Amino acid sequence: MADLQDLYQETILDHYRKPRNFHEIGNPNRQADGFNPLCGDKLIIYLQIEHGTIQDIGFVGSGCAISIASASMMTEILKGKTEAEAKTLFANFNLLVANRTDSQPEPEGMGNLTAFSTVREYPVRIRCATLAWHTLRAALDKHQETVSTE
Ligand code: FES
Repeated sequence: MADLQDLYQETILDHYRKPRNFHEIGNPNRQADGFNPLCGDKLIIYLQIEHGTIQDIGFVGSGCAISIASASMMTEILKGKTEAEAKTLFANFNLLVANRTDSQPEPEGMGNLTAFSTVREYPVRIRCATLAWHTLRAALDKHQETVSTE
């Protein structure tokens, strides 16, 4: 178990140190701002969606290792996904970090996002892990206002 946790930690630190897709994108047609009121950290997610598929995605902002790594891995897994698939991943990520009990199976198709399964043991960090995802959901739903993790 310790080895697995080390691997998870390594994955999260790698994405924090070298966040993928950490930039604005050329022609976004959706975007949303996200805010964690507990710490004041903010992220902006940019999406380019064509014919219901995410062609490009990027993010900018500031946050802790967990929030930046979560945003980085989220952008990696979402490129090429449909809006419906993105909403399913949003639901499964929330299940992974917040709602799942030990008797429930891990959601499938999560790739290295599984690294965040340890977050559920630290409730205050759940908002860090889900900040990018709530922001994504607002962008998919075309909400213009800043969304909060509250
Ligand atoms: Fe601010 Fe984690 S401490 S998002």
